[in-house]
Formats: sequence, structure tokens, C-alpha cells
Amino acid sequence: MREAGQKICLALDFPSGQEASEFARRFSGRVGWFKVGLELFVSEGPSVVADIARHGSVFLDLKLHDIPSTVARAAASAVGSGASMLNVHAFGGREMMARAAEAVAGEANRRGIQAPKLIAVTLLTSIGAETLADLPLRGNADEIAAGLARLARDCGLDGVVCSAGELPTIRRTCGEGFVTVVPGIRTAAEDAGDQKRVSTPRAALKAGASLLVIGRPVTQAPDPEKALGAILAEIGEMK
Ligand code: C5P
Repeated sequence: MREAGQKICLALDFPSGQEASEFARRFSGRVGWFKVGLELFVSEGPSVVADIARHGSVFLDLKLHDIPSTVARAAASAVGSGASMLNVHAFGGREMMARAAEAVAGEANRRGIQAPKLIAVTLLTSIGAETLADLPLRGNADEIAAGLARLARDCGLDGVVCSAGELPTIRRTCGEGFVTVVPGIRTAAEDAGDQKRVSTPRAALKAGASLLVIGRPVTQAPDPEKALGAILAEIGEMK
């Protein structure tokens, strides 16, 4: 696979395992990662993860957010699913994240497998200035996301999900080795839909993204092959 494809995680936001599986098979070998999110996981159950993992690495995007013991147990349960990356919400706080990291490492050790990466969602990319103003939080998106990223790093997590806008601050505060997964990817011309803090593939990678999560711009495109091809060409040409 080309280097550009390794930087892409296709979000398989489909209602059925069959559609997701067909899509993953179609793009197998062209992108490194596939994302299984809530819609697919709730409709198909954990077996969908192992099925998709035949076509690439799986990011299991369940955004766990509950009391520490519940999240730790759910994260441990996800370790054997075949996913290479899992996530929790950083808003769950220090104890929740630390317990989840400990549970993932412990379960992987017990099974004798490599632990999946555990990352934290900072501020959802669908939260724009207006939505943020409604929430009882202090600071702008950059300050909030960077603060949550620092906390996630201190709790032993491998990285975060954030928007491209916050990447420079997060890179500066959390270092080079910290994984940064960036959704809200849109080409300059297209409608962002419910996503608010968006960026182009090229801008996100330039700002230091480790992995781009791309869903509807490819899955809902009239010609998904062409849409992905254009994105791969755009980032493959980057110097
Ligand atoms: O279709 P689109 O490219 O907007 O898909 C983005 C995907 O990334 C969705 O599956 C969404 O659930 C997920 N995601 C996100 N923002 C986050 C974390 C995950 O959009 N902060």
C-alpha cells in the first residue's frame, strides 16, 4: 500500500454489516484503516470488528463515557475484538481514562496480544462556536481540546481525536509521538453537513495529523472510487 493510504481511516457508517463489509473489501489494500462506529456496532455486534479486520486495521469508535469501572470493563472487553484502536471521551476525566488504559494493557497482557491503542475524544468536530457557547465550559475550542489532550496523555493514553485546528497546540503540548486522529475532513468545495470544525486532507496532514477519518465524502460520493482517488492524489503529492 502507498504511504498516503496508511494515513486514511474510512468510516464505515452503514446500517448493515453486509454493506460495511462490501465497502471494506472494495477499498482493502488502498487504505490502512477502517472505522467501526456506533451505528454498525449496535446493529451487528462485536463480530463485525473481526470481519472488517480482514481488510485492514480497525478503529473501534465507541467513544466510551461512563463511570470509571464501567468504562474500564467495556474497554477490556473490546481488547479481544480484533480492533487495533479504541477510544473513550476525555470528558470522563482522569480516573476514567487512567482505569481504561490500565484495563486495556492488563487484558492484552492476559491474552498475550499486542494492546490496541487507546485514544481520547477531545471536543467533537461537530461542535462549532455556537454549540460551544451553549455549554458551560470556559475557553475556546483550542484551549479546551489541548487541555483534554494533556490530561489524556498524563493518564497514559496513546493519543486523541481532535480537529485539525487544534493540532498545532496539541502537538506542542503533547509531543511528536502522541497519536492525533482527525475527523471532519472535507474537500474545499463540499458541504460540511453536521461537521463544524473541518479541514481539507492536505491541511490536516500539514498540521501534523497521524490519521485522517473520512466518512461521507467517500461513502456517500456518487463515485466513491473517484472521491478516494482524489484524496489519495492530494495527499500523495504533498511534500
Ligand atoms: O462522514 P464524516 O467524514 O463526517 O465522518 C466522520 C466520522 O468520524 C463519523 O463516523 C463520526 O462519528 C466520527 N467522529 C467525528 N468527530 C469526532 C470523533 C469521531 O466526526 N470527534
